[in-house]
Amino acid sequence: MNTSFCNSINRVFSVLAMISMTAFAQASFADTIAMIGTGSVGSALGKDWSQRGHTIVYGSRNPGSESVQALVAATSGDASATTQAEAVIGADVVVVAVPWEVGEQVVAGLGDLSGKIVIDPTNPRDVSEDGLSVPPSQESNTEKFKKLAPGAYFAKSFNHIAAEFMENPEQVPGFFVSVAGDEPAVQWISNIATDMGYTIGVVGGLRETRLLEAFYSAMRNLRTMGYPAVMQYGDMPSR
Ligand SMILES: NC(=O)c1ccc[n+]([C@@H]2O[C@H](COP(=O)([O-])OP(=O)(O)OC[C@H]3O[C@@H](n4cnc5c(N)ncnc54)[C@H](OP(=O)(O)O)[C@@H]3O)[C@@H](O)[C@H]2O)c1
Repeated sequence: MNTSFCNSINRVFSVLAMISMTAFAQASFADTIAMIGTGSVGSALGKDWSQRGHTIVYGSRNPGSESVQALVAATSGDASATTQAEAVIGADVVVVAVPWEVGEQVVAGLGDLSGKIVIDPTNPRDVSEDGLSVPPSQESNTEKFKKLAPGAYFAKSFNHIAAEFMENPEQVPGFFVSVAGDEPAVQWISNIATDMGYTIGVVGGLRETRLLEAFYSAMRNLRTMGYPAVMQYGDMPSR
């Protein structure tokens, strides 16, 4: 074999190796995500995360409705919609993007979550007569969810970012995102939040999810009182 032939063969093998490494890198990050709830948060994260190589399965009370089907069409990749319980069956990651007060009922109805990563973005909604948040109860929603599915890995995050910035994270580069919970879930969230261009801060474990709920309530109160530094990012999550 002459030298130029050998060089050509080497180049072909190098290109093939690079292609297979790229394919592996993408496949290892491509999870199936059950997005439970198709409101502001579920649709924003579903649309953004599908563009990062993940497959989104929306879990909805009305999967066949016009609005949910329009959301599926607006989501990249092989997206679909089904019932909440069916959505989690093949999922690696579950997002509980539903109103705070129905969170426990929804998690209880999802079936076996063992081994899955479950993300809780829910925020306490108790508001006093003056429009200010009432401090949340001692146990966080995330801790309550964990009791219902002890074999799953839970973390609370994304609760203090407005949904518009979840769908368009490039509008707030470096925006600070906090997370607390079980290690595998914290790691998964840290990876995707970094990929979205946010700056991630790990507040602690499952017990510290209480702090993130209180942090949301404090930020919401500052916004209600008109503090400019809190207002600069547009609307705080109002729910
Ligand atoms: N909006 C924000 O900017 C923001 C930011 C951070 C965190 N959060 C928190 O994230 C969670 C979701 O917020 P969101 O703004 O997306 O709320 P949303 O727009 O009201 O949507 C919640 C979704 O949950 C499902 N749902 C509603 N009631 C339900 C029930 N009784 N049982 C089961 N599922 C029900 C619905 O989806 P289907 O109709 O398809 O079933 C609904 O679209 C809340 O806990 C909120 O505090 C919100």
